[in-house]
Amino acid sequence: MDMKHLIPIFVIFFFFMSTTSASVALAPSSSNTQSFSFSKPPGDQTFFILPNDVDPKLQSICGETDYPIECLTTTIPFLDENVAIIPVSILKVEIDAIHNKTKEAIDKAYEFSMNPSTSRLLPLCLKTCINNYNAILESKQRILDAISIGDANELSMELSHNMEHVFACEDEFKEAKIESPIVKLNSLLVKIITNSLTIYVDMVKV
Ligand SMILES: *[C@@H]1O[C@H](CO)[C@@H](O)[C@H](O)[C@H]1NC(C)=O
Repeated sequence: MDMKHLIPIFVIFFFFMSTTSASVALAPSSSNTQSFSFSKPPGDQTFFILPNDVDPKLQSICGETDYPIECLTTTIPFLDENVAIIPVSILKVEIDAIHNKTKEAIDKAYEFSMNPSTSRLLPLCLKTCINNYNAILESKQRILDAISIGDANELSMELSHNMEHVFACEDEFKEAKIESPIVKLNSLLVKIITNSLTIYVDMVKV
């Protein structure tokens, strides 16, 4: 792989790591594709090295999104020789990632609501979040159908609603003046949804 493909990604990545305190952990993939994980406690300046053989086609797709690192980290572990590196298939992986991360968020929400040592309001907030997450899970088939028939309006509408569901969850904590215990997953979800809209609008629907 030549350096002209690698350098922009490293620059983007370094920018990302120096401006956020996001933490992403990915389960190891069962296939023989690249998998990795990292987490960055706030204030830590360590940085994470991307696999050095990221497909240049994937780099250029993710490079056009608002959150290229999340685009790479949520897709690379799930790519194998059966997945063509073209925008529509990367979009489908991202739709899968939204689904999986939403399920993860539901599990977390249940876990936190079992915790007895928390505020009385917390379980109520979490219940609202779970309802919103379930609405996201229910939208998956409609999104896939919209992609397959090329219905741009339907796709944008579903993805925008999903984004609103995540915000509705975070708003609950804000109103209750409780620190959101799932803010990281929610922020990752918003980023993947935003990237999915960009991949569809700018690269699939042309
Ligand atoms: C989503 O989860 C399913 C089932 O665990 C897994 O097979 C798939 O690879 C995951 N995909 C993504 C993009 O997370």
